[in-house]
Amino acid sequence: MLAGRHIIVTAGPTHEPIDPVRYIANRSSGKQGFAIAGALAARGAQVTLVAGPVMLPTPPGVDRVDVETALEMSEAVDAALPADAAVMVAAVADWRVAPSAQKIKKGTSGPPVLRLVENPDILATLARDPRRPRLVVGFAAETEHVVDHARAKLARKGSDWIVANDVSGDVMGGDANSIHIVSVDGVESWERLPKDEVAARLADRIAAALA
Ligand code: CTP
Repeated sequence: MLAGRHIIVTAGPTHEPIDPVRYIANRSSGKQGFAIAGALAARGAQVTLVAGPVMLPTPPGVDRVDVETALEMSEAVDAALPADAAVMVAAVADWRVAPSAQKIKKGTSGPPVLRLVENPDILATLARDPRRPRLVVGFAAETEHVVDHARAKLARKGSDWIVANDVSGDVMGGDANSIHIVSVDGVESWERLPKDEVAARLADRIAAALA
């Protein structure tokens, strides 16, 4: 179904170091992204999975690149091009810190002030790259106004689809997802499904879009 297609998938959180022992992170288990990578590979795609720090086994047939930070994830996505499609499931930290080379010690001069620097938006950058994959899919975790926020994100990020995930329940780390696929053609809402089932249906939809 997807033989001969190269698809990049990002998954998991990123960790942004504060010093050698501390970091800032986003909450993400990586489960949905890994399931999508596996479902695409099972349909014959060559999959490059750019994975943030998670404790998950690599799905069969998937080429995995492990990264820690948003900057590393951005470089790994760039290095994986060209691709027919990209599915950006990672919960990328929006900010990083200029990290301290030494462990910050407490007590001497009060709590440290963290000066945050914005990370590159990997999805938006890819969507505007001359080597843009034919199909670019973003994810959005929202707690309210799910579809409205996804529509705005679709335009802002320049992706073809935004898969909007309603995380107002217990989705983070859980095994089921309630999603809406938002594109210029409209909105398709799916009933709450196990993450593996979401992955299978999404892989079929991606295969149809690339056919
Ligand atoms: N994303 C990315 N690089 C970033 C931030 C986000 O590639 N630095 C991607 C995610 O992988 C996801 C999509 O963008 O596919 C949604 O990101 P989200 O964090 O929801 O978007 P934001 O622009 O940060 O919007 P919000 O104001 O909701 O945080």
